Amino acid sequence: MPLINIRPFELSDSRDVLEIEEAIFNEPNPLLYQVMESLPSEGFMVAECDGTVCGYLVGTIFMDEARVLLLAVKEGYRNRKIGTKLMNTFIESIQGRANMVRLEVRSNNLAAQTFYFKMGFRFIGIVKNYYKNGDSAYIMVKPLDRLTLFL
Ligand SMILES: CC(C)(COP(=O)(O)OP(=O)(O)OC[C@H]1O[C@@H](n2cnc3c(N)ncnc32)[C@H](O)[C@@H]1OP(=O)(O)O)[C@@H](O)C(=O)NCCC(=O)NCCS
Repeated sequence: MPLINIRPFELSDSRDVLEIEEAIFNEPNPLLYQVMESLPSEGFMVAECDGTVCGYLVGTIFMDEARVLLLAVKEGYRNRKIGTKLMNTFIESIQGRANMVRLEVRSNNLAAQTFYFKMGFRFIGIVKNYYKNGDSAYIMVKPLDRLTLFL
């Protein structure tokens, strides 16, 4: 089991993060470049496994709603609770300031959906044609603190 450390993103992590993103999604999400340039970006954190970047999460908070925009764990490091640690660290960081965390997940990404469900997220809707290739997105939310979902 690697030693896992969750910490804020630093500019020197850029290459590692882009490599993970490219390996998973072929081309990096343009958003990634944007958040890399706008340092310090509060919700951008990386997981370091035995000294190497093995995952990252990009989240934001606006008014009382937090969003997870990007989350990935490097292949070979998955199923070791690194995604769980990244998500819990983000949620801890916004605790008391947000009523819920919201995210979009590709409708065919069953692994991520199962992960989010396990983390307490629930499906609230679908957006057709959300992704460039026409795939739909499921919207999932996790209520925090004072919010109860009517689901
Ligand atoms: C989704 C992702 C971030 C999960 O990270 P991870 O570190 O592997 O997840 P964890 O080890 O913390 O898993 C926690 C729970 O999620 C569920 N889960 C994780 N991966 C799963 C998979 N491939 N299939 C089914 N359930 C899965 C399990 O219930 C797991 O709990 P368990 O091990 O007690 O059964 C990772 O698989 C990933 O990077 N995927 C590719 C990128 C991606 O799809 N990102 C999300 C875009 S919206």
